[in-house]
Amino acid sequence: MIRIGILISGRGSNMLALADAVRDGRIPKAEIAVVVSDQPDAGGLVRAREQGLKTVVVDRRGRTRQAHDEDTVAVLKDHKVDIVCLAGYMRLLSGYFIEAYHHRILNIHPSLLPAFPGLDAHKQMLEHGVKWAGCTVHFVDETLDGGPIIAQKIVPVLDEDTEETLSARILEQEHKLYAEALALIVSGSYEIVGRRVVSRGEVSS
Ligand code: GRF
Repeated sequence: MIRIGILISGRGSNMLALADAVRDGRIPKAEIAVVVSDQPDAGGLVRAREQGLKTVVVDRRGRTRQAHDEDTVAVLKDHKVDIVCLAGYMRLLSGYFIEAYHHRILNIHPSLLPAFPGLDAHKQMLEHGVKWAGCTVHFVDETLDGGPIIAQKIVPVLDEDTEETLSARILEQEHKLYAEALALIVSGSYEIVGRRVVSRGEVSS
């Protein structure tokens, strides 16, 4: 069994989508080992406990990034976590964390990266006037939303969209995409070739 650790800071809808996918067999040979929040009052903690998932709070307040990350990594190691999924985790990771789980940390971002990294992606997209939006699951490296891309889905932007309607349309796809991307990584049948994440056997010379 591959043990998954999920990091959240907020409502945790992607965390629940991953838990659902594990439960109904869409991510075979995986289990959710622990849900960790850096925010003691994250709504997702309650929702995780309702699902019977183990939760731990590693409060970020008053800690340096490195000290906080050391504690978080220690919790993940205690729970024998193999793969870390960031799901609305609103904290940049230190080099220490990234090295501890090199190429084993995934993140979901509500845009078609490399366009619109960082905060307020929906606002950025509407202001820029793009006609197609989407979401991306990628490996986390030391750059902001910049690691190798595992999977993407596209979503149309409608003339009448607001940040709320666009984010709701993207979120629906995020929940499917994250489960699909994690299933690929758990299966181990992929390679990272340069910046490209490719399914095994499909690398062309
Ligand atoms: C999602 O839009 C995700 O792409 C972004 O933060 C949001 C988290 O939502 N990284 P939730 O906590 O998973 O509901």
